[in-house]
Amino acid sequence: MNLSRTLLILFVTVFFSLIFADTTHHHHGHRKLRRHVCLNGRELTDGKCQCNYNYTGENCERAMHCLGKSRSSNGSCIDCKEHYYGEYCDLLNCTNGIQDEYYQKCICDKPYSGDFCDQLVTADVYLFYNSKMMGPFGALTIIPLLLIYYGCESKAQKRQVKRIGDMMSDQNVNVDSEAVKNLLDD
Ligand SMILES: *[C@@H]1O[C@H](CO)[C@@H](O)[C@H](O)[C@H]1NC(C)=O
Ligand SMILES: *[C@@H]1O[C@H](CO)[C@@H](O)[C@H](O)[C@H]1NC(C)=O
Ligand SMILES: *[C@@H]1O[C@H](CO)[C@@H](O)[C@H](O)[C@H]1NC(C)=O
Repeated sequence: MNLSRTLLILFVTVFFSLIFADTTHHHHGHRKLRRHVCLNGRELTDGKCQCNYNYTGENCERAMHCLGKSRSSNGSCIDCKEHYYGEYCDLLNCTNGIQDEYYQKCICDKPYSGDFCDQLVTADVYLFYNSKMMGPFGALTIIPLLLIYYGCESKAQKRQVKRIGDMMSDQNVNVDSEAVKNLLDD
């Protein structure tokens, strides 16, 4: 039948575009610089780096996020800004994820995002919820949600988890809000 063929094509398209979107999302790795490259500082005669104010690391590649301008006599921070820790406040506290120490970035667990993995974007939560609940077939139920997403995303980039239930029930999607919460918590 025509209808089932159309549905099949839709399904395959959405399914593969989701897989593609997924694999392009996070790419990270560790790359070591050759020694004595001083990214934010200058090279001393012994080949070591002397870092500019606010930078640390062998190659002065790590930004410091101290709270306030004072430093201890050895140059370390007195206290750190929120979300940072360590003697030089160069380490990130990734709320729902792990830290890529070399690049000073958080790598977030799905569906979290943001610099410290403490934010939830509606579309990411939908994807996560659908694939968890229904496996690959969840992709079909996502079509109306994608339409909302592209309609709303330009107006409001980030939405909070408490709004998910409202958005879904607007689309006649049955939501067990406890289930969504549990999924987000694990
Ligand atoms: C040092 O870094 C802090 C952020 O941690 C910033 O507010 C401040 O402007 C920086 N100072 C300089 C001189 O770069
Ligand atoms: C730098 O000074 C701070 C505070 O005095 C101290 O806690 C820290 O261990 C010192 N770090 C180094 C590398 O000497
Ligand atoms: C990271 O943040 C959490 C809550 O925001 C806090 O409880 C925890 O102590 C922090 N960890 C570090 C290493 O700062």
